[in-house]
Amino acid sequence: MTARKTILVVGASRGLGLALAEEYCARDWQVIATSRGRSPGLDGLLARYSATLEIETVDIVDLASVLALRARLGGRRLDTLFVNAGICKAAERTPLQANEKDFLDMMLTNALSPMRVVEAFHDGVAENGAIAVMSSEIGSIAKCFGFWELYSASKAALNMLMKAFSARHPDDPRALLLVAPGWVRTEMGGPAASFEISDSIPLVADMVERNAGIPGVRFLDRYGDILPW
Ligand SMILES: NC(=O)c1ccc[n+]([C@@H]2O[C@H](COP(=O)([O-])OP(=O)(O)OC[C@H]3O[C@@H](n4cnc5c(N)ncnc54)[C@H](OP(=O)(O)O)[C@@H]3O)[C@@H](O)[C@H]2O)c1
Repeated sequence: MTARKTILVVGASRGLGLALAEEYCARDWQVIATSRGRSPGLDGLLARYSATLEIETVDIVDLASVLALRARLGGRRLDTLFVNAGICKAAERTPLQANEKDFLDMMLTNALSPMRVVEAFHDGVAENGAIAVMSSEIGSIAKCFGFWELYSASKAALNMLMKAFSARHPDDPRALLLVAPGWVRTEMGGPAASFEISDSIPLVADMVERNAGIPGVRFLDRYGDILPW
């Protein structure tokens, strides 16, 4: 009998993060799923998977909250760390039009804070495991077509910080993955998005687990195809 694997999904209250938690529960993993506040979605999941789902609390922009979560988990071994949390503000604005705080909030939530979580928790991830952060296709500078440009800039910054983390850990055996899930109908993606959550998240989980234990930093889509930086 093999031991159940463990994943920590950060930002799992709704949308893609909740679906990731559900997907790994269905795969019989031990799932630690975080929200900032009460999550009806996670409560519903807990009713179905009370033995294997643990609900935790963290606000990733609050460093004390991140460190408190690390202390509560007390060095738990993780097979996969998946930082999903993210925001989008001022999507259609240009730099001249944008409210500065909206831009700073995105840089803090989408770039700096996910990488603080990675730095705080990476020691607990197994050598044959994976550290994944939710990026976006539109974080690719090479493929930029001007859509949601301020949000895209925050995901490009995230990609850079993950690259820098990788450069600081040249012998790291874990997969370091920047995941592009596709344009998905969630509160953030909106109703005009191309895909349902169910078109994306099972493929994302398959792709992350196929990559586990394969060292190096990669920016990839849900199929595992490499995207240009
Ligand atoms: N949907 C898409 O088309 C798409 C495409 C590419 C990439 N992405 C990325 O995928 C991720 C999930 O997006 P989504 O579409 O599922 O968005 P969503 O429905 O708006 O959900 C965002 C999630 O992030 C959490 N979150 C936001 N700020 C947080 C913070 N400071 N600390 C902890 N959790 C926080 C939210 O928690 P609360 O409930 O507490 O707000 C929520 O669980 C994001 O990183 C997004 O940028 C989405």
